[in-house]
Amino acid sequence: MSDKDFLPINGTDYVEFYVGNAKQAAYYYQTAFGFQPVAYSGLETGWKDRVSYVLQQDKIRLVFTTSLEPDTDISRHVDKHGDGVKFIALWVDDARKSYEETVKRGAVPYMEPREEEDANGKVVRSGIYTYGETVHIFVDRSKYNGPFLPGFREWNPYYKTSKVGLKYVDHMVGNVNWGEMDKWVNFYADVMGFQQLVSFDDKDISTEYTALMSKVMTNGNERIKFPINEPAKGKKKSQIEEYIDFYKDSGVQHIALATDNIIETVSELRNRGIEFLRVPSTYYDTLLDRVGNIDEELNSLKDLGILVDRDDEGYLLQIFSKPVEDRPTVFYEIIQRKGARSFGKGNFKALFEAIELEQESRGTL
Ligand code: FE2
Repeated sequence: MSDKDFLPINGTDYVEFYVGNAKQAAYYYQTAFGFQPVAYSGLETGWKDRVSYVLQQDKIRLVFTTSLEPDTDISRHVDKHGDGVKFIALWVDDARKSYEETVKRGAVPYMEPREEEDANGKVVRSGIYTYGETVHIFVDRSKYNGPFLPGFREWNPYYKTSKVGLKYVDHMVGNVNWGEMDKWVNFYADVMGFQQLVSFDDKDISTEYTALMSKVMTNGNERIKFPINEPAKGKKKSQIEEYIDFYKDSGVQHIALATDNIIETVSELRNRGIEFLRVPSTYYDTLLDRVGNIDEELNSLKDLGILVDRDDEGYLLQIFSKPVEDRPTVFYEIIQRKGARSFGKGNFKALFEAIELEQESRGTL
């Protein structure tokens, strides 16, 4: 067996947030993002200290968890970081081996392999720490037929919303602390067997004020892509530094969700209250000169503020939301790939300038 195959991953299993009010977070993700209710666990199912809601849209499964008590891991996490991503769970065939192989290579254990069982079957899970207080859970659910995990019951409320066309997690970006880029690039390479995706433009990204360094780590089948950002010294405070200042640690910066029709998806999200970053309309004056022919109507892209970038293999369309909680921390990207496997580096400059305007209004530039 080649050394690269020690941690086969089938995809993202779920992303779990620790939040201050899971009931209201669940309503927001139903209403604004079109997620469908799937499962619930709390006092009614025998939990004494916490509540979780599980929502799903196509392959994207999100979990929102709140503590019912003070001084728990969950409430301390929320106190320090605000609402944020605690777990990036990865779907594997063997959660025990995933744990053994990564811990053997230096991963810090979070949860030893554990078998959970109910009438729907059994699930094996284990967990290791990554950057900050963020954790990777390995999930083997091949012998399970329930709605989520043992201990959860089906959640089927009267209130339902229509989906907006979100399909799967394309990538999840981590912001890491000053000087920690190489540490975490090496973690994904050495401990998890990932490789660095070769970037089309290796120059560091900067505007007049903002600078950052970014590297993309991916697993063997490229279903998991983790770009990692580190702040760099600019004239003023970068958005990465702003994130670190408010999250108080390294953590997940954005989750990129894929759609097959970005114009429809973003129109719907905008109607439902999701606010997106806007680049200056001059961005569109020269867009087609930069990216060549595209299938989409330029006017629709301009109206919605959707960005386009091209690489050697095709192009991609993308747009970024504003942060979805009060601290300027976690936000979403909506992305549609048309051949391109890169991440929109050509848009970073225009985007950062838009973000700097937002930072200026927050007094954090
Ligand atoms: Fe992204």
